[in-house]
Amino acid sequence: MTVITFQNMAVEVKVFLPILSVIWQNDKQLTPVAGPTRCNGRMPVPLQQETTGMSPMMYDRLSRMYDALWGDFTSHYVALIEHLIYKHGLTYARIADLACGTGSLVRDLGMKGHIVHGVDIAPSMIKIARKKTRQFRNVTLRRENMIEFTYRHRFDIISCTFDSINYLAGEKELQAFIKRVSGALKTGGSFVFDLNTEHMYATYQDNVVTHNVNGESFIQRLSYNPRSQIATAMFEFPDGTIEVHQQRPYDARTIKRILARNRMRVVKTYADFSGSPFRPDSHRLICIAEKKIVG
Ligand SMILES: C[S@@+](CC[C@H](N)C(=O)[O-])C[C@H]1O[C@@H](n2cnc3c(N)ncnc32)[C@H](O)[C@@H]1O
Repeated sequence: MTVITFQNMAVEVKVFLPILSVIWQNDKQLTPVAGPTRCNGRMPVPLQQETTGMSPMMYDRLSRMYDALWGDFTSHYVALIEHLIYKHGLTYARIADLACGTGSLVRDLGMKGHIVHGVDIAPSMIKIARKKTRQFRNVTLRRENMIEFTYRHRFDIISCTFDSINYLAGEKELQAFIKRVSGALKTGGSFVFDLNTEHMYATYQDNVVTHNVNGESFIQRLSYNPRSQIATAMFEFPDGTIEVHQQRPYDARTIKRILARNRMRVVKTYADFSGSPFRPDSHRLICIAEKKIVG
């Protein structure tokens, strides 16, 4: 097991943030909040099962540290989305940001005058997003599961950033999610998203990362089970609270196939925000897809 600091692998670790499935407090109290868990001696061990899924309790603790550690990730998306808006010949666009987290992207796009709708399942994250966007009348937020998110008008652009898709619990959920996205997009509209690859999880398995936020340090233990394809990150806080997050990789071919099944085609793929082409050994897939005009 390698011990490394957050600084040494800042960019890479930023992309590994899996599902909260258990909170363990003060060495004694075990409160499962999502997915099956088993208490094995001192550490709660998530069972490696097909259905990981998201719980509304997720990010309860981590949300407080989120912006300090990962809050600037979505800034990369502002230019990308503005470029798409320009390509679509629009001045102002109707945008949905699914799994919007603490709302940084929603805020940045709202500030530019676009009509933005943010959706997230975690109450703790959406609460922060509400605080950040309170002054924007063109911004709405809703706590919902993105697989079945509701909307009144179709969108020009839908985004789902920072490996939020890796939280989906298997291909069935991925299919349901993409179907929903396609249904909510205008014809010709764009879907922008990213996800971690299996190569990424395999590279960083068995790492321990120490984070320090405002003088409080906590540990993130990473592991990956290639058989079940479940990536686990355990966040251990000084007060004994443990949050276990789980994600799973989806390969580019599966993504492409499911998009095609739902009237969408891949327009561009990248491996990073400097525009490097996506390759089989890339750690991240950034994808722009478009809803096809049929007929
Ligand atoms: C790593 S954060 C990314 C947040 C934000 N997109 C960003 O770029 O900072 C993942 C987010 O996905 C949300 N999430 C995961 N699964 C979800 C689901 N099924 N429906 C809605 N939100 C979900 C979590 O609550 C969390 O806020």
